[in-house]
Amino acid sequence: METKAASGINNAFYDNLGEMWYGSDDHPIALLRAENKARNKWVLKQLEEYPKKDLNFLDVGCGGGFLTNAVSEKGYKVTGIDLSKKSLEVAKKYDQSKRVEYVEASAYELPFESESFDVVSAMDILEHVEEPETLIREASRILKPGGLFLFHTFNRNPLSYLLIIKAVEWFVKNTPKNMHVYPLFIKPKELKAMCLSSSLDVISLEGLVPNLNSKAFWKIAITGKVAQNFNFVFVKNTWTGYVGKAIKR
Ligand SMILES: C[S@@+](CC[C@H](N)C(=O)[O-])C[C@H]1O[C@@H](n2cnc3c(N)ncnc32)[C@H](O)[C@@H]1O
Repeated sequence: METKAASGINNAFYDNLGEMWYGSDDHPIALLRAENKARNKWVLKQLEEYPKKDLNFLDVGCGGGFLTNAVSEKGYKVTGIDLSKKSLEVAKKYDQSKRVEYVEASAYELPFESESFDVVSAMDILEHVEEPETLIREASRILKPGGLFLFHTFNRNPLSYLLIIKAVEWFVKNTPKNMHVYPLFIKPKELKAMCLSSSLDVISLEGLVPNLNSKAFWKIAITGKVAQNFNFVFVKNTWTGYVGKAIKR
């Protein structure tokens, strides 16, 4: 596992989450779980709209398998890679379909042949690596022409610094130090340029944010915990978290 990155990003704590991936409410992993609930629906919609039905799907940095397991349950052929072996064990345990192929690998060197996947996703990982352009180049290499690259990351501006880094540190109990680091956040125009130089044309971007109009959001500040009904919603602006879709040329 990569621990001493130049940016100071902390990718070591994923190894120690264990059952917390699915069970904790007093750790920011519960925010990720809530975010996945909304995002999984968005990903499944992209797959349903994809012209080919028997598609081959890879999730890069799959963590505890929130997305891979949900996609496999819908009958798609799914592979998930991650550097955290212990997270992959949790993902495998929660794979009800028992069909997901989990592989310990680096996003910088995907152990797959070129043009072998129809859809590749990179959710909440681009801002965890020092070289997102290398990850994107690899994703593009293994995508078939016309294939889809789906991603989620955080914009870099004072609002995202406050909301995604500081507010989480202040209000959610047990937030690991350097879970996110500001310099690794990525502006949409930077991400578009990285994609473009790897033969990926970004065709849509959408914001994905915590639902500020819910009691559950404000309850975090009082309890330090993420309630079950805490939810994320899609918005037009990409000021903080955003998802995107690109097509391989
Ligand atoms: C924030 S988690 C996101 C997990 C999952 N994509 C989700 O959204 O639920 C980031 C994941 O990226 C993984 N990761 C970090 N650097 C990596 C790399 N270079 N190659 C593969 N996985 C990496 C971590 O182990 C962790 O599981």
